[in-house]
Amino acid sequence: MTGALRGVVALDGPSGTGKTTVARKLAAALGAGYLDTGAMYRVVTLAVLDAGVDPHDADAVVALARSVRLDVSTDPAAPGARLEGTDVGEAIRTPRVDAAVSAVSAVPELRDLLVQRQRALIAEAARDGGVVVDGRDIGTVVAPDAPLKVFLTASPEVRAARRGAQDTAAGREADQATVLASVERRDRLDSSRAASPLRPADDAVEFDTSELSIDQVLAALTELAGTRGLLDEGVAEPCR
Ligand code: DC
Repeated sequence: MTGALRGVVALDGPSGTGKTTVARKLAAALGAGYLDTGAMYRVVTLAVLDAGVDPHDADAVVALARSVRLDVSTDPAAPGARLEGTDVGEAIRTPRVDAAVSAVSAVPELRDLLVQRQRALIAEAARDGGVVVDGRDIGTVVAPDAPLKVFLTASPEVRAARRGAQDTAAGREADQATVLASVERRDRLDSSRAASPLRPADDAVEFDTSELSIDQVLAALTELAGTRGLLDEGVAEPCR
């Protein structure tokens, strides 16, 4: 019997660390909400590309982001993203979006806008319990008071192999060398940008997931949440 989560779990790290899968499964197992902040940057990037806007044109990116409607689900059982009401869950995971999302997410005013929305979504999801938030700057910027901050890492080769497997499973062609180059390029850009670069919070617990299965990471995080007193015991089943 696992208790239900109370409070915010901030889960940061580069892509291919298992972060998104772990965040969603942890939220589902602990009856909590789930927020994929990367999906929000991806939806804006898709809108930018579809509108023919230059991803490096900060003013145009922000103007567009203010004018479009983007929605992300906070239900771990039904994750999803919408742009102007249209389901874009698949379209935001293409190489075209991968290639442009770092430029878009480096725009400081866009980050301010999305961080505000993320905080509102977190507050709403956490009203009746807990929420697991997946991103790059959750522990450092979005939710610096989160009672549990985790930073997942894995070697670039392992992360590229996981990304390649995801692409193949989704029916997209995946050449390992190209995927590795894309993963390394995005990490470099995400870690070196001036606005909220990818880095662990000082009080984050770091996990190298290279040699760990998703279930092993989940077990470790559930134990950590329990140790921190974030689990309400006595809840037989996840309630969300
Ligand atoms: O987690 P992901 O791969 O879906 O994220 C897509 C991009 O969005 C990633 O390259 C960095 C950016 N991102 C960010 O800058 N801040 C976040 N909180 C989440 C994602």
